[in-house]
Amino acid sequence: MPDCLYRPFPLGSTILKGNLFLGPMAGYTDRSFRSLCTECGASMTCTEMVSAEGLVRDSKNTFSLLLRAPNEEHLAVQLFGSDPDTMARAAEQLPANQFCAIDINFGCPVPKVVKTGAGSALLRRPQAINSIIKAVRNASGLPVTAKIRLGWDSSSINYDETAQAASEGGAAAVCLHCRTRAQFYTGEPDYQALSKLKQLVNIPVIGSGDVFSPEDAQRILSDTKCDGVMFARGAIGRPFIFKETIELLSTGAYNPVPLSIKIDFFLRQLEMLSIDRGERTACREMRKHVPYLLKGIRNSASVRQAASTAETEEEYRSALSSILDQFPV
Ligand SMILES: Cc1cc2nc3c(=O)[nH]c(=O)nc-3n(C[C@H](O)[C@H](O)[C@H](O)COP(=O)(O)O)c2cc1C
Repeated sequence: MPDCLYRPFPLGSTILKGNLFLGPMAGYTDRSFRSLCTECGASMTCTEMVSAEGLVRDSKNTFSLLLRAPNEEHLAVQLFGSDPDTMARAAEQLPANQFCAIDINFGCPVPKVVKTGAGSALLRRPQAINSIIKAVRNASGLPVTAKIRLGWDSSSINYDETAQAASEGGAAAVCLHCRTRAQFYTGEPDYQALSKLKQLVNIPVIGSGDVFSPEDAQRILSDTKCDGVMFARGAIGRPFIFKETIELLSTGAYNPVPLSIKIDFFLRQLEMLSIDRGERTACREMRKHVPYLLKGIRNSASVRQAASTAETEEEYRSALSSILDQFPV
């Protein structure tokens, strides 16, 4: 009998119940969405990336990103920045007892971030990765994890070096997005790198990149022997992907969640977001989730259109219930 692929994950002195992670996603992973992912079995959730500079300057907008949902037992905060001292001071500003870990962003490809020397710009400076991990760890006392990419581009693949630098700096785990900075979010992820990384470092390795289904998670865990997988785009509009994956990994099969329940999750997310941001803003923010919710549903263009202009919860409710009339499940 092979080992179960869904298994506890050691993070410093904490043992997480499972090895299925929700990745940080700017503009998506607010606490309403994370709360549903937690309810569906995400082993650890993460805030979107938070600016270390913003925290140190005490910016109100930055602090609003730190809110935790009541059911989030294991929430990490992700920081980005380039200077070890600023990163350490930012870690000291974090509210006490809110986070179980601090993740450091060494992968963001966006020019606005890269030109400040943060995110994936740090992949070209393994020594700086080492110093940042050390500084944040000393300042916070929390487990610190590193989120890296394969390298800057295909001619400078150096995940072995950057992961080693993070590990030697005291990182509790490393997450590898199996693409280069130059690839942004497209192109085939190189999962073989996960197998190689597993041989190289003795901290847990988490795999990221195109984890869009329970089967993807199963294949990556099984083929590469990595310790955990991270859902990102695959969880948008589908927080229940965690439940389905736990079922698949634990029993060998799963019952896909029916459309009516998918819509229910969406409306609950909208309700929670309305409480945090007000109904009008929440409705506008949820528009970008709609294509993910309706992906693969035939003849949903008119519903998509109606939902994409909805300004109230009621408008969403009526647009989405019309799709259930067409596809009653
Ligand atoms: C809209 C969006 C926002 C993201 N924001 C962050 C972020 O704030 N921090 C980070 O480390 N990665 C971020 N990522 C990267 C994801 O965490 C993940 O590593 C990447 O999307 C690969 O996984 P996937 O192909 O399964 O989506 C973001 C990705 C997307 C699509």
